[in-house]
Amino acid sequence: MNNEMVLILDFGSKYTQDIARATRRLGVYSEIAPYYTPLEKIKDKKPRGLILSGSTYNLFEEDAPKPDKGILDLGIPILGVCYGMQLLVHWFGGKVATTPERKYSSESIEIDQENLLFSGLTIKESVWTSCDDSVSQLPECFVTIATGVNTPYAAIQHRSKKIYALEFHPEVTETHNGLKILDNFLKKIAGFSGNWSPESFVEKSIKDIRQVVGDKKVLLALSGGVDSSVTAALLDKAIGDQLISVFVDTGLMRKNEAQEVKELFSEHWAMEFIAVDAGETFHRNLKGVQDPEQKRKVIGKTFIDVFEAEAEKHTDVEFLAQGTLYPDVIESVSLKDSTVKIKSHHNVGGLPEKMKLKIVEPLRELYKDEVREVGRELGLPENVLMRHPFPGPGLAVRIPGEITKEKVEILQNVDHIFIQELKNNDLYHKVWQAFAVLLPIQSVGVKDGNRTYEYVCALRAVGSTDGTTAEWSELPTPFLRKVSDRIISEVDGVNRIVYDISSKPPATIEWE
Ligand code: XMP
Repeated sequence: MNNEMVLILDFGSKYTQDIARATRRLGVYSEIAPYYTPLEKIKDKKPRGLILSGSTYNLFEEDAPKPDKGILDLGIPILGVCYGMQLLVHWFGGKVATTPERKYSSESIEIDQENLLFSGLTIKESVWTSCDDSVSQLPECFVTIATGVNTPYAAIQHRSKKIYALEFHPEVTETHNGLKILDNFLKKIAGFSGNWSPESFVEKSIKDIRQVVGDKKVLLALSGGVDSSVTAALLDKAIGDQLISVFVDTGLMRKNEAQEVKELFSEHWAMEFIAVDAGETFHRNLKGVQDPEQKRKVIGKTFIDVFEAEAEKHTDVEFLAQGTLYPDVIESVSLKDSTVKIKSHHNVGGLPEKMKLKIVEPLRELYKDEVREVGRELGLPENVLMRHPFPGPGLAVRIPGEITKEKVEILQNVDHIFIQELKNNDLYHKVWQAFAVLLPIQSVGVKDGNRTYEYVCALRAVGSTDGTTAEWSELPTPFLRKVSDRIISEVDGVNRIVYDISSKPPATIEWE
């Protein structure tokens, strides 16, 4: 835990994580806690400031989120945002009225330039509002510090306490100087030094890891993805040869991937690196399996079996390291979200219980972009840090129907050309994820005057921020033409390419 932390109480707004990311960008470490966190637990975290998030709820809905009112007595600066503001107004005796329709709009407000919260801003500011309710009467102990035509109480301040509230979202880009407002709250009002950074995290983390691990050994399932690679590099720096990294080659990786991971980690790092070639086992276990969920289960179980068998050879291991990131550990308050499971994701989550190892998760406080910065600091190459996400079950979920070695090889070659061309044409980093899918159908074609009957491949490229929603990417037609021509002429067994133009939802990113 960081000793200079702002705590964000989450009432279930879709922007809560944006507040956390924004404060970190400003050099202030933040954590998110659900609104129902007991007061004692909040006190234990020793936050230096509190931000109350927005919400999809109206204040007077029956099951609207209500935190412990004792937070007002913590004596630390508070910033309420939308729902957070209305809650404060209600608690202090003001009035909140429900507006007939949710307002999603950009608005020009006039601010009190003398106020510390608006230090360095111009008298008119453009802000983004999205509230169902709005303040209709201010509590006596508050004053207005910004007004707009539609939001007369755009920003308010307590007369004697460091409590501020905004009826707009400072954390979204549509509020042009929102970051400056947050910065003023954190540094000018709450007194944060603003010296948190992923670099400072590395130093602190190395000390913590050494203290926790002592002279014991740590096992890591290293996939070559960003999270496990940075975890490996960090642990390597902290405990060197006490780390044993196990890379399981599932035979379902991208072209040359297994070789590249082996070369990188066995040549450049001090850790013990073990590559287990388990391709045969995975293919054997997947024989005849067609159902997507069944595939995922078989792969997850095979992975655990292979990893465990390797782990049993190392009797002196006490810890299992995992590349868990902050979004995975936040207790989610997406109150109105459905909890229907769409796909059973494969990761190494099934391991620790069975293996009775203690867990170390050195990245659990960080967001992905911060993890990349840590990786950079530790000397990991850009091509590892900036690569697209790749699913645990690998190419298996990109080959609908039964998986064979022949199909995997065809797909590896197709995918390789697509990715290579994206990189050559400066498009790789403009999309969030791109890959090819080998469809379980063949179609008729003609090559060198002869009839062919070969596989169809789909290309998919999407834009996204975290994979929960995605837009299909409009790649340039000449680029698609070139990729298609290259694949069909260079890859045996493929005579037709289609481009996937479905967004998520209703489609998912992967096909299975
Ligand atoms: P979907 O297909 O659910 O994918 O829209 C969202 C993101 O998650 C990745 N993905 C996985 N990642 N294990 C992983 O580590 C998995 O089992 C898995 N399945 C999907 C997918 O590539 C996309 O980035």
